[in-house]
Amino acid sequence: MAERAKVALVTGGIGGIGTEICRRLARQGCLVVANHHPVEQDVADAWKRERAAEGLECETVAADVSSFEDSARMVEAIKAQHGPISILVNCAGITRDKTFKKMEPSQWTDVINVNLNSLFNVTRNLWDDMLEAGFGRVINISSVNGQRGQFGQANYSAAKAGMHGFTMALAQEGAAKGVTVNTVSPGYVETAMTEAMREDVREAIVAGIPMRRMAKPADIASAVAFLAADENGYVTGANLPVNGGLFMH
Ligand code: CAA
Repeated sequence: MAERAKVALVTGGIGGIGTEICRRLARQGCLVVANHHPVEQDVADAWKRERAAEGLECETVAADVSSFEDSARMVEAIKAQHGPISILVNCAGITRDKTFKKMEPSQWTDVINVNLNSLFNVTRNLWDDMLEAGFGRVINISSVNGQRGQFGQANYSAAKAGMHGFTMALAQEGAAKGVTVNTVSPGYVETAMTEAMREDVREAIVAGIPMRRMAKPADIASAVAFLAADENGYVTGANLPVNGGLFMH
């Protein structure tokens, strides 16, 4: 009997990096569910049609991952329809860039809630199933700016650095149960998020990247596919940089 397709949940799955991760996992035979924020329902419907036109069967699910209750509801709905989730890619993220002296409390808490607290909210709701199944892949999409800090991103850098702390702790809890937990830290990627930056600031950053170009979303998806693969089960607690040489350590 053919093995049942693994269910992969990608939070922020209809965004620039998330879309490419969904494509890649779907092409590898996963049953992919792309999470999106409830306000993006129309965009998500169009996204699903675009994937179908590419011959990829991807599902979408609305949930605000900064809410524990909404995340729990989302995971239960996916389980009821498709079975337990084997691969989780925590990719949902936002920026609220401001120099610290101008940063409002809401700009701090929004970024921490979406980028960091979502890891607890989503992962906590499917962790027990992964342990029970004796197989799981949790992949957290952090950022080079969590590794080196970035002017104007005290909130974002704090959340992104926190993600890898979470990875390392959880990797230890999953290690003996076949569940790996890893971080991918992209550099600057060609998406709407970097497109929204001031042009002069963006150009100055690109000039400082040894490869002199931003990453393509596919560069990130490829790293995720590596960590998600069955045969890479001995990699855990790692932080894989995909940054064109912008930061090395
Ligand atoms: N280091 C030191 N000083 C800096 C600096 C830096 N990197 N960048 C700017 N400054 C200085 C400026 O020279 C300026 O000095 P003066 O006041 O003496 O002239 C001062 O800081 C103010 O700079 P700005 O004009 O840039 O300030 P602003 O308030 O207009 O803009 C900002 C602030 C919006 C945060 C802007 O600096 C910015 O966009 N920074 C980049 C943030 C960034 O990299 N975001 C990444 C988004 S994409 C992403 O996050 C994905 C990912 O994971 C990589």
